[in-house]
Amino acid sequence: MNPVSATQTISEPEKQPGSTLAIDLRSDTVTRPSPEMRRAMAEAPVGDDVYGEDPTINKLQARAAEIFGREAAIFVPTGSMGNIVAVKTWTHHGDEVIIEERGHIHQYEMDSITAIAGCMPRTTYVEDGILTWDRIEPLIRPKVYYRAQTALVSLESSHNMAGGTVYPPEVSDEICDRAHDAGLRVHLDGARIFNAAVYLGRSVAEITRKFDSIMFCLSKGLGAPVGSMLVGSREFIEKARVYRKLFGGGMRQVGVLGAAGLIALEKSPARLHEDHANARCLAEALAQLPGIKVDLRKVQTNIVIFDVSGTGRTAAEISAALAKRNVLANPTGKYDIRMLTHCDVDRAAIDRALVEFRALLAA
Ligand SMILES: Cc1ncc(COP(=O)(O)O)c(C=O)c1O
Repeated sequence: MNPVSATQTISEPEKQPGSTLAIDLRSDTVTRPSPEMRRAMAEAPVGDDVYGEDPTINKLQARAAEIFGREAAIFVPTGSMGNIVAVKTWTHHGDEVIIEERGHIHQYEMDSITAIAGCMPRTTYVEDGILTWDRIEPLIRPKVYYRAQTALVSLESSHNMAGGTVYPPEVSDEICDRAHDAGLRVHLDGARIFNAAVYLGRSVAEITRKFDSIMFCLSKGLGAPVGSMLVGSREFIEKARVYRKLFGGGMRQVGVLGAAGLIALEKSPARLHEDHANARCLAEALAQLPGIKVDLRKVQTNIVIFDVSGTGRTAAEISAALAKRNVLANPTGKYDIRMLTHCDVDRAAIDRALVEFRALLAA
């Protein structure tokens, strides 16, 4: 969507008060809707979605279900709401949810698993973020009435804080099969599942077919301004609708958002390979810089996490210095910085960011 190169000015209507020409690599959530999305939003046929009468959101939900090969889907305002609605739908108070230690739902959603669903996260750390059944099985509680019970396994693909790593389908398929045999449900935090599918060269339907529920975001790599989807069986989605309402997520003429979501869903997956190529180019160049370490095996999608300890400066110091040079990136640890590529940065912007980084380290 209208990539902004390092030298270009932002054309109307994207130019907004306060916007700068910073190369914003903090997240793929920072993208702004394309002119096509804005037009579609303005012109969307709408109705009251609490009554199920919004034609645009109904179309988006039907299309999402079709693309994932499932019975039904429901629009939610955020990925966080999609995740907690799924957890709440699959669990009871006092249950446990198995999740990788750095999972977004555990670390960055205010521990809604505990705060809202009344469950306990049961976590384990895996270096590349990719759980395997042998790591999950020992965490399952025995079925004894005075023990807490395990209800759900939640996987994340691509795994944000592990650097955008992707579940090999045979690994997630095995987890789903074994979990089902053990009477557990498996939810996928697929905020960036389209990036995972592009990396694997498979369809999202194929790589998610064994999960009980899938959350994916329209507002990340796909470039929509707002919104995520939950996908699953008709029965699951009908229960999810009740919890979405309970959590304050029953929306009215939400087709104005759904219209942008439809464009994101139909058009954006076809261009994600560009973001991946830009991330790889960024990572390979960063790996050449003095004092910077990048694990290139983990650069599979649009996320690059790198270690700056060899520069003698902290991630916060480097990020602050980069920001002064109009390159924005978030520290994710004392010596780790994360950069994400997306539709609003093109190769020229990546090259410009690298020029600034080199100059900063040389200064
Ligand atoms: C992996 C993952 N899951 C869920 C979310 C939550 O999405 P939202 O910010 O829309 O609540 C994010 C947001 O960055 C994410 O990276």
